[in-house]
Amino acid sequence: MTFGGVVAVKDVSFSVAPGEIVGVIGPNGSGKSTLINVMTGFYRPTHGSVSLDGETLSGLSPEAIRRAGIARTFQNLRLVQEMSVRENAVAGLYLQITGGRSLTQRWLADMFATPAARRRAAAARDAAELALAQVGLQDKLDQTVSALSYADQKRLELARAIALRPKVLVLDEPTAGMSVDEADELIRMVTALVESDGEPMSLFLVEHRLELVLDVSHRAVVMDGGQVIADGLPDDVARDPHVRSIYVGGE
Ligand SMILES: Nc1ncnc2c1ncn2[C@@H]1O[C@H](COP(=O)(O)OP(=O)(O)OP(=O)(O)O)[C@@H](O)[C@H]1O
Ligand SMILES: [Mg+2]
Repeated sequence: MTFGGVVAVKDVSFSVAPGEIVGVIGPNGSGKSTLINVMTGFYRPTHGSVSLDGETLSGLSPEAIRRAGIARTFQNLRLVQEMSVRENAVAGLYLQITGGRSLTQRWLADMFATPAARRRAAAARDAAELALAQVGLQDKLDQTVSALSYADQKRLELARAIALRPKVLVLDEPTAGMSVDEADELIRMVTALVESDGEPMSLFLVEHRLELVLDVSHRAVVMDGGQVIADGLPDDVARDPHVRSIYVGGE
């Protein structure tokens, strides 16, 4: 992926197996978010391609990719501050369930519409509430987002993605701005959820906290300067000289 003359990500190649937890680490500007934007259709790759279950995804819209089974969160929160926790979670699902037309159009139509539409709305609400309970927000469903703590807002963003029951859950620094304890709790909750889910869900987790990533991941990918410099079992990656030179300041 290049931007004008800037090569943000170069010669990156990897795969994620069903149910696998892949932890991605790397210094600021190493291309982690760019990689996620390419995987989820926010950027169209300059070269190369992304596929899911053998189907090529690159070139599709973010919404089509989400419907194909890749759900993401953003490094910076994208919530509607003046809506409630429940409404935010339902809105995220609505795009997926109703497809094409604009969210408001569909939502308004469904509120007054046919039994099928009402069942659809009820299903979205149930799925949203289940996901909110899974991230520990069951007691805050009617709170306005702006009244939530930052950590709870990050949990809500996560619930929106989980509610979609994606094949691949892609998280871009879900614990940024959280305390060490909050971060630890959130990551352990997500990984437990991924591992316990009936349908295999893969997790692609970009996270700054090296120890935490190595602890919860089945595999670790390390990026530096837009390239993958290590990809393997967390223990092996932790011993890699190049990785050590970045994270512990040399041998
Ligand atoms: N839309 C864009 N236009 C121009 N350059 C970009 C764009 N997006 C990313 N870049 C550049 O690509 C490189 C990789 O950025 P990216 O945001 O992917 O890094 P990152 O690993 O996510 O960093 P961080 O840890 O700070 O989130 C940087 O040099 C960045 O300036
Ligand atoms: Mg980033």
